[in-house]
Amino acid sequence: MNHRYRKTIIAGNWKMNKTLTETKAFAEEIKPMLGKPKWCEVVLCVPYVNIPAAVRLFKDSRIAIGAENCHYESHGAYTGEVSAEMLKELGVKYVIIGHSERRQYYNETDFTVNKKVHAALEAGLYPIVCVGESLEQRELGVTMELIAYQVKAALAGVPADKMRHVVIAYEPIWAIGTGKTATAEQAAEVCESIRVVIRKLYGARVARAVTIQYGGSMNAKNAAELLAQPDIDGGLIGGASLKPADFTTIVNAANQE
Ligand code: 13P
Repeated sequence: MNHRYRKTIIAGNWKMNKTLTETKAFAEEIKPMLGKPKWCEVVLCVPYVNIPAAVRLFKDSRIAIGAENCHYESHGAYTGEVSAEMLKELGVKYVIIGHSERRQYYNETDFTVNKKVHAALEAGLYPIVCVGESLEQRELGVTMELIAYQVKAALAGVPADKMRHVVIAYEPIWAIGTGKTATAEQAAEVCESIRVVIRKLYGARVARAVTIQYGGSMNAKNAAELLAQPDIDGGLIGGASLKPADFTTIVNAANQE
């Protein structure tokens, strides 16, 4: 973390979890526990149908609400889809784009990720752009090249002045939902390399200011060590974000001056 130059952001990604009733129970439990963190921003990315309730429930807190995906067009004949504009109007601030589960199961490509980043920025949302390698790619020794490619493709055509709104999340696929966390060194190495890619694209000032999160089995036990790395500016948390106590512990680890 480095508060001097950039925001620390702890974001939960609920994926396809929690009904409306469970969302309300979660809010009631976590709000008094979490208080008002000063040194980090807290985000909960929830299923579309729970967004209006979540916005209402967390209105009086420091928790911002995010979505888990959006479409790249502002409107049109795309049955079952939701646009960035629709999310913005509901009070959504962040939107996860290019999560590996969407790349794996729903045909998300670097091309659609780039279009969605543009759509999100156009609508006034903050995209959390996910990149990450598979175990096979790591073992082949192509992690750095692949991540650089994913970052460049996602940001193609994004002007420097919009980069203040962009968050990058490094999520190695082999660490997601597996309980296998990247070591702090592995995570730091890739996050640092992402900052180098952004420096080459946009210069040192933009690179210094961009928030780069780590995601992949981040939990109450390992968060502090990961967050202590200078180039890891927060986390994108799946499983542990479903439990108020665990999520609060992670936020507290990030909420350090
Ligand atoms: P887990 O924290 O459950 O491994 O999920 C990480 C993730 O995919 C967050 O987007």
